[in-house]
Amino acid sequence: MTSQTDPSITIDLPLTREDPDVVKTEITRGLLGNPKTLPSKLFYDERGSTLFERICELPEYYQTRTEHHLLTKWADEIVGISGAEELVELGSGAATKTRVLLDAMASVDQLRYFVPFDVDETIVRRVSEELVLEYPGLHIHGVVGDFLFHLEHIPEGGKRLVVILGGTIGNLPALAAQGFLSSVNSEMASGDYFLLGVQLITEPRRLEAAYNDSQGITAKFNKNIIRVLNSQFGSHSDAESFDHVARYNEADHRIEMWLRSREDQTLDIQDLGLHIHLKQGEEIRTEISTKYDRSLAEELLAASGFAMVKWYSDPDNLIGLALAKKP
Ligand code: AVJ
Repeated sequence: MTSQTDPSITIDLPLTREDPDVVKTEITRGLLGNPKTLPSKLFYDERGSTLFERICELPEYYQTRTEHHLLTKWADEIVGISGAEELVELGSGAATKTRVLLDAMASVDQLRYFVPFDVDETIVRRVSEELVLEYPGLHIHGVVGDFLFHLEHIPEGGKRLVVILGGTIGNLPALAAQGFLSSVNSEMASGDYFLLGVQLITEPRRLEAAYNDSQGITAKFNKNIIRVLNSQFGSHSDAESFDHVARYNEADHRIEMWLRSREDQTLDIQDLGLHIHLKQGEEIRTEISTKYDRSLAEELLAASGFAMVKWYSDPDNLIGLALAKKP
């Protein structure tokens, strides 16, 4: 099922076509595990994507603007080295930073194809419609998918630059990150380039502040997962019966977000036939956001079949951009 709007836009919907049992099994496994967890991709319905866009503009959330600056500084060089005519972005979201790369490609007349890949259909459609207007002649093949399962939906194309920005890779534990990047590598041709944006290890206070903003937007984003369970899986839980918790786990160099139950309660999730008892104070982990340093990033890339070509970072060492090549 591929849908056509503008002739320059194709949207492929593997996630919509996926057997609903796949995500149900993921949720069930997570809630029956110890600790209890929920898959982070559930944050991103239309409301969740919008809340995340607001997070990116928060004063405490330094990540987005720092990466944006870095990209602005180095996009021409990255595009020049890669020689790419097709940009593939995994976890494209609002694709704000992507435009910096698209501009750099357009300015040397290298821009043919853009593949935004995201779990949220509304944002893939919105971004595709905006970008065909902004870049005349650009062809867009959007994929509404889970990049852990649907990578084969990336279309065959010319010379590619594949990017994962924003520290999205941090959502995966180390081993899963390596497995995932190895799959990305297998989808690429020899000589294609890969750009990985990572959030760097820094002071716990700064990290924790970025996930505990004073306006409470991150708390709303975290609790949105409860609303998604309600609307998509038939539960009736009160998102406000949970407190937002975000703390830095130094041993695993990652921020963890949790929802802490304010009371004894049962999560009755009808579509999953699940009844999860929660004690007051009990927590469900909704997200990990792993922080890297240069050598961790380089090792991850090497273990996934990539050779790092260049490393870029800001003067405060908050964000790293690793440009790598498939040999
Ligand atoms: C989209 C996974 C990169 O980990 O910083 C931001 C998500 N969660 N604030 C991150 C997020 C809470 C973000 N990533």
